[in-house]
Amino acid sequence: MTYQSDHFKKTISHAKEYGFVFSSSEIYDGLNAIYDYGQNGVMLKNNIREYWWKSMVQLNENIVGLDSAIFMHPTIWKASGHLDAFSDPLIDNKDSNKRYRADVLVEDYVAKIELKIEKEITKASKRFGEQFNQEQFIETNPRIIDYKNKVSLILSRLNKSLEAEDLSDVKSLIEELKIACPESGSRNWTDVKQFNLMFGTKLGASSESSIDLYLRPETAQGIFVNFLNVQKSGRMKLPFGIAQTGKAFRNEIVARQFIFRMREFEQMEMQFFVSPGEQKKWYNKWKETRLSWHLSLGMGQDNYRFHDHEKLAHYADAATDIEFKFPFGFKELEGIHSRTDFDLSKHEEFSGKKLKFFDPEKNKNYTPYVVETSIGLDRMFLAIFSWALKEELIEEGNTRTVLKLPAILAPYKVAVLPLLKKDGLPELARKILEDLKWKYNISYDEKDAVGRRYRRQDALGTPFCITVDHQSLEDKTVTIRDRDTMNQERISFKEISGFLEDKLNIKNWLQKI
Ligand code: GAP
Repeated sequence: MTYQSDHFKKTISHAKEYGFVFSSSEIYDGLNAIYDYGQNGVMLKNNIREYWWKSMVQLNENIVGLDSAIFMHPTIWKASGHLDAFSDPLIDNKDSNKRYRADVLVEDYVAKIELKIEKEITKASKRFGEQFNQEQFIETNPRIIDYKNKVSLILSRLNKSLEAEDLSDVKSLIEELKIACPESGSRNWTDVKQFNLMFGTKLGASSESSIDLYLRPETAQGIFVNFLNVQKSGRMKLPFGIAQTGKAFRNEIVARQFIFRMREFEQMEMQFFVSPGEQKKWYNKWKETRLSWHLSLGMGQDNYRFHDHEKLAHYADAATDIEFKFPFGFKELEGIHSRTDFDLSKHEEFSGKKLKFFDPEKNKNYTPYVVETSIGLDRMFLAIFSWALKEELIEEGNTRTVLKLPAILAPYKVAVLPLLKKDGLPELARKILEDLKWKYNISYDEKDAVGRRYRRQDALGTPFCITVDHQSLEDKTVTIRDRDTMNQERISFKEISGFLEDKLNIKNWLQKI
């Protein structure tokens, strides 16, 4: 097993064992790609949401919030294009009755060829040692050249047929590549069909009067259709933004990789409305600002990269993904899209209502352009959680499992621990807890030896442990232990709040942006 898949497995089991993430409806054997957040997970998730919300809404005068309903008028999805085009190409294997995304079957085939390329490189680098010139080897080795040509031919054909909606050619490609069903091993495939990812439901009491609705596949459309309400009631001037967090639903076919790709998930989206012609400037600004937001959490610059889209959706004039190094490689964490005036114009067309902004300086009405930032809260949770989980070697050959969550996001900021369960130590510890709980989420633990309690708090990601001992009774001091360094220092009761304020004041984190 590779380190990566091993680490991913540990991430999933740690999330369950310590009350962060559970399979939904687990006692009924669960529901595929649906998850519940446990007692610690919900706090981490809330803290991530708040960190995003404060950076967007609280710190920007010209960005306001919104909480639009999940159910929306069905014509919205016609106008936005989701009804016609929000779909994946699917294929069924007739022997296993398993359903696959046709493009993913081809991409998995390509990934196997890419693995062969990597193996050739590893083999050669071992053979040539320090003299190995990887770039030259890749450019000149006939086997690698062959593999690369094959990959590029396959991918360009796949993209061409998907773009032309030539689904029979996608099937031909699967057949020509002799791709077999991973389950049955057979190549007995159905035709490829488009499958819409939106979940449908009904509104209304009787079957005659009910109307078909969809669970929203993104929160953004709730912002677009409220653009004028917010602009007018808030007397907003361009440029301004509307931010919203909330659930979105997609009937993902290839739903795997834990909370990376879910059927019910939460998005944190912000639509920034600008004058036409200014979108490029704001797109670059938001690219930079969003990356700084990620970097402010201290998870390392090398774990992020931009993936600028070459092929753009028909409504976009620029788009990029901020990718994060998940345990299974670099993958999309957040999207930043310059969406032109597409959405507002379409809603204007379909609703018949004017969605224009009157610019007093230019003395004219126009449809604003939009730059969108869109991040999955669950995906951000996975990025942080998987990065933070470490297995560390400590003295005497012992290891510890520690969750090095950014302190500002940790579920509990402090654990208060009486050294012993007697001599008035629990009473004093509880007094300290009573004092701190108004500002921070505090954990109290008096069970087991203090070393074991430290380990428990390490595994939960609690950045500080305050221990009350006999000396505390005498001189009103405690020890405070740092999760990451395991160093302990003795400070007076009076110094506790200043110490924590310095480490946990959100200003010290967000002002790095
Ligand atoms: N409004 C634009 C939009 O929805 P998207 O790229 O489809 O764009 C934005 O989604 C973000 O939402 C992604 O970068 C990802 O973080 C998250 N996301 C999308 N689908 C998801 C899923 N099935 N499960 C978890 N997160 C998802």
